[in-house]
Amino acid sequence: MKIFIDTAKLGEINEALSWGIVDGVTTNPTLLREATEEEKRKNRELDLESYIGKICRAVGEGKHVSLEVLSQKASGMVKEAQMLYEKFNPIAGNVVIKIPINTSISPEISDYEGLRVIKELSKGGMPVNATLVMMPEQGLLAAKVGATYVSPFAGRVDDFIRKNLGISFEKNDYFDFNLVRKIAVEKLSKRLKKSSTNKISSLYFDARKMSGISENGGIGSGTELVKKIVEIFRKYGIKSKVIAASMRNPRQVREVAEAGADIATIPFEVLQAMLKHPKTEEGVKNFYIDATRAKYEELFCGSK
Ligand code: E4P
Repeated sequence: MKIFIDTAKLGEINEALSWGIVDGVTTNPTLLREATEEEKRKNRELDLESYIGKICRAVGEGKHVSLEVLSQKASGMVKEAQMLYEKFNPIAGNVVIKIPINTSISPEISDYEGLRVIKELSKGGMPVNATLVMMPEQGLLAAKVGATYVSPFAGRVDDFIRKNLGISFEKNDYFDFNLVRKIAVEKLSKRLKKSSTNKISSLYFDARKMSGISENGGIGSGTELVKKIVEIFRKYGIKSKVIAASMRNPRQVREVAEAGADIATIPFEVLQAMLKHPKTEEGVKNFYIDATRAKYEELFCGSK
């Protein structure tokens, strides 16, 4: 599985690049806002154009950098995609354009603007990352119109399920499917005990919704979303690569790797957390103490 870093902070990108584990970068408008705010806090003036240029240069050839459009209508998205591509792709030839799978946020905007744009750009040879994918069906349509990458947002789907079930959680909490299902079943049985038979239709709805954790259209977790998309793509020999996005913790990264994701795009803090284990730390400390007792350091005397 390839690893992308999910950040627009140049410091984080450079640091992770120096570890030798980064195969690409994904940005989005929120990540760019966070990066610009951080620069401001450090009293550094930030010119967004040159800042994005620096990201592309730092990442270099052969490693993709996703940059997202702003508009919701197809015509605007195409123009912005072309502008982003013309501005930044010449730097290191590594730009991918991120297009939301469905940009309809008001009645004037159709559900299909994103698909139209993905098709047009892909046909013209521009690599596209279809983003904000929350259902396998969306992923399938994005692939159908030629997306180079399809990005299922595992963490946000977990957020959605837990919120619908009224479960409180911290953003980076691991989504424990079995525990979530247990909570759902308990909530349902409490509700059933309290209710009267005249509300049978709503009870039926609740039961279906909660016992199967099916309020995300039959998808029980973010990992399951990634797994289903991978399965469908493999079954039909679909070429689009699956980027497991919205990663919240190391265990979720392991699960999407097991699910066969081509890439996971991972925030800096999660990358850091992936290396941590108390027994590793304890082991290093104890080896050091024993090495000193064994005068191990004498072996290295005179070495350059
Ligand atoms: C992916 O391309 C997105 O930038 C990202 O993974 C979103 O993550 P979030 O849900 O933590 O904001």
